[in-house]
Amino acid sequence: MPASSAAPDTGWVAWIEGLPCAGKTTVARAVGERLRALGREVEVLDGDEVRKMFSPELGFSRKDRETHARRVSYVARMLSRHGVVVLVAMITPYETSRQAARATVGPRFGEIWLRCPVEVCRQRDTKGLYRTDRAGGAKVTGVDDPFEEPLAPELVVDTATESVVASTEKVLRFLATQGVVPPLPAR
Ligand SMILES: Nc1ncnc2c1ncn2[C@@H]1O[C@H](COP(=O)(O)OP(=O)(O)OP(=O)(O)O)[C@@H](O)[C@H]1O
Ligand SMILES: [Mg+2]
Repeated sequence: MPASSAAPDTGWVAWIEGLPCAGKTTVARAVGERLRALGREVEVLDGDEVRKMFSPELGFSRKDRETHARRVSYVARMLSRHGVVVLVAMITPYETSRQAARATVGPRFGEIWLRCPVEVCRQRDTKGLYRTDRAGGAKVTGVDDPFEEPLAPELVVDTATESVVASTEKVLRFLATQGVVPPLPAR
């Protein structure tokens, strides 16, 4: 086989989904740091930040959210083909978007659902999203805009009941079972 066709195909896409304030950014960053320390190339594609760059013209209708998720999944696939571990941190409220992302990326993909009750998210409210007096009356996912419960996540992490450290460890251990990093020592 010529050397040129032996490009590394060891990348992976972890699609981290859940309600606003469920912990996606926190977990993605922490897992990213751990993966880097273990020698992996990592990119975190984080909700708001990525939206500004990829989809500034899009809003939050179902159609626009699905279009945005398609763009992100395409880039995630490209990066992962070059050996990068991509951590996508996006609410991803619709099952159709999750399935489309899975189909786009292929087998080196896993959905990680950060399951956290809306009451807990509301209490955390790191961005003031859940405030009832928020400007513009924008809809909030999980309150007055739908969040469909994921049907086929590879991993469910209950971020309401465990620490950031414990959730990070859980994700990392899951990624180890997928061959993203070598097996971790038993606790
Ligand atoms: N187990 C946990 N995992 C992740 N975050 C946790 C956990 N326990 C508590 N938290 C706290 O919950 C908050 C989650 O905020 P974060 O910005 O990560 O959420 P998010 O899902 O990225 O929200 P958004 O969709 O608005 O970007 C942080 O303040 C974090 O410290
Ligand atoms: Mg976030």
